[in-house]
Formats: sequence, structure tokens, C-alpha cells
Amino acid sequence: MRLIRSPRPAARSWAPADRLPPDPTHRPPPANAGSRRLRSATSERHPATGAGPPGRAWTSETVVLPDANEAPLVEARDISFSYGPLQVLFDVTLSVARGSQVALLGTNGAGKSSLLRVIAGLQSPQRGTVQFKGRDVTKLRASQRARSGMTLVEGGRATFPSLTVLDNLKMGAYPVNDAAVVAARLEDVLALFPQLSTRLQQAAGTLSGGEQQMMAVGRALMASPEVLLVDELSLGLAPIVMQEILRVLEQMAARGVTLIVVEQSVNIALGLAQHAYFMEKGEIRFSGPTVELLQHPEIVHSVFFGDEVVTTS
Ligand SMILES: Nc1ncnc2c1ncn2[C@@H]1O[C@H](COP(=O)(O)OP(=O)(O)OP(=O)(O)O)[C@@H](O)[C@H]1O
Ligand SMILES: [Mg+2]
Repeated sequence: MRLIRSPRPAARSWAPADRLPPDPTHRPPPANAGSRRLRSATSERHPATGAGPPGRAWTSETVVLPDANEAPLVEARDISFSYGPLQVLFDVTLSVARGSQVALLGTNGAGKSSLLRVIAGLQSPQRGTVQFKGRDVTKLRASQRARSGMTLVEGGRATFPSLTVLDNLKMGAYPVNDAAVVAARLEDVLALFPQLSTRLQQAAGTLSGGEQQMMAVGRALMASPEVLLVDELSLGLAPIVMQEILRVLEQMAARGVTLIVVEQSVNIALGLAQHAYFMEKGEIRFSGPTVELLQHPEIVHSVFFGDEVVTTS
């Protein structure tokens, strides 16, 4: 899989929706942004996976690294969260740089979905804060966070089944009043997922599982997010559908969209993300470059087989 990173284009219809006050932490890419670009050496790739050494986003093409001096785009700090008496997140801290792609891995019930829901504002933490674009958004509702550029695709149940595919897609752009902008975004989404073009008048509930996932991602893209959070990215999807969705996410990444993706496949995480978090029993047990996962066979085993990690070194 090839990830091609390029500086953010200024495509009008995809310009990130920024309805918070101006971001004090965001600086436009410097004129010499090229100096931060690296070109990987094929000979330095991992012989089995094609991945390069830790700390870099590796590709055979030019890549752009996140600016180390820039504040994180999304940061969850010391999050504790409970469903009633059941605490499921314990002091979870996660930090995501603008323009980066992050994989969130973990055993079943580790708290990955709960963490995404807290970040997106669908759940309120008992302790800790969520920062977005350098501001504390912990008290903002999910709809306010969505309007300011944060979009969550929830696994499996992301459709309004009785509405048409077209209406589902349009709903993704609900805060936008400009019909021309909505039409341009729709055109973009249909170019990314041409399979949906022939299904526009069909009730969403009659789509195949793979098509529903495409539609869910497409609808999220209609919001023109700065950060896209995707839960259960590949669960239950045929490899060909998965490839299609990955191709779109890679294009989003190339446009500068930040991705936080819950993923069960370490291979997909390695291909899509530069950084990985591994969660177990409501805590972060590993955080580092995705290629370093290969140095932790116990994590790879646990993600794959769903058992507990006994030792981490
Ligand atoms: N609405 C809810 N009410 C009560 N407990 C819940 C609720 N949703 C999740 N939980 C519990 O919270 C814990 C974390 O669940 P969560 O869905 O966040 O895990 P996960 O890492 O996403 O798991 P999976 O990989 O299976 O999707 C689990 O023990 C789960 O049973
Ligand atoms: Mg989950």
C-alpha cells in the first residue's frame, strides 16, 4: 500500500469547516515546507511489511511530517469515563498532530469506541479534558464539535435506513446552507465512491454492508472534516471493499485530513497510520510509531486473538 502525502490543497469545496474562533496554534505551512519533506529509501524498508524504521511516515513518494512545534489538533487529556457505576476509561491521554493518521487498537471492550465518543462529544467524561485546535471543547456538544470540523463515523449503525442514499449523504453537510457547496461536495464524494452513484435513490437500509460503510464514510466527508474519527473501520468488510475505503482515506490524508481510526487489523494500521495507540481494559498500554508494533508481538497477538497482553516491554 502506498501513502502519498502532499501539502494540503486549497480545494474550495473541501476547505475544512472552521467555525471556532481563529486557531491560535495553527500556522500555515512555512514557505520552506519542503525542508520538512523526506524521501524514503526503499532499501530501508522492513523486508516483510514494507514499513520503514520508527518515527517517519514511510512511502516511496515524498512525505510531509507533522510540524513538531505545532500544538496537537486533537488531544484527550487524562480522560476517565464511566457508564453509571462501570468505569471503562482510566486516565486516558491521546494526542494527535494535525495532518497525521493514528490507529487505535485494542482488545474487545478495551474502551476504544467509548474514547472516540468522548472525543466527539457523544459522552461526557467524569474527569479530563478534550482539546481541539488548541481549545478546550469538553463542554461543547457533539453537534458543535462537528460544526467546527470533527466528524465521527460510528461502526455498523451509521445509516438512516429508510432514507435514500442521497438524503443520507446530504445530511452529512447539514450545517451548510450554500446549495452549491453541498452539490460540489456531493460530486466529490461520488467521484471518490462511484459505486454509490447508481444507488442514490435506493433506501440506505437496502445497501450491502460494504456499501453502507462507503456511504457512512461518504456522509462524514460531506461535512468536510478536519479530523475524521472512524470506529470499526474494517469490521466485517470484504477485502475489496476495504481496499476501496482505504483508497479514499488515503486520498483524504493526502488532502491534509487528520484521521483517528479504530482498527482490528495491524496490517491495515501499519499501512494507514504513522502512529498507533493500543488500549486494554480502559488504559493506553502502548503509544508509538506503528512500525514499533512489530517489536511487540504480544500486542499484535492480542489485537488479533483478543487475549490480554501479559507483558509489555
Ligand atoms: N452504553 C453502555 N452502557 C454500559 N456499558 C457499556 C456501554 N457501552 C459500552 N459499555 C462497556 O464499556 C466497555 C468498553 O466498551 P467499548 O465499546 O468502548 O469497547 P471497545 O474497545 O470499542 O470494544 P470492541 O472492540 O468490542 O468494539 C465494555 O466493557 C462495554 O461493555
Ligand atoms: Mg468498539
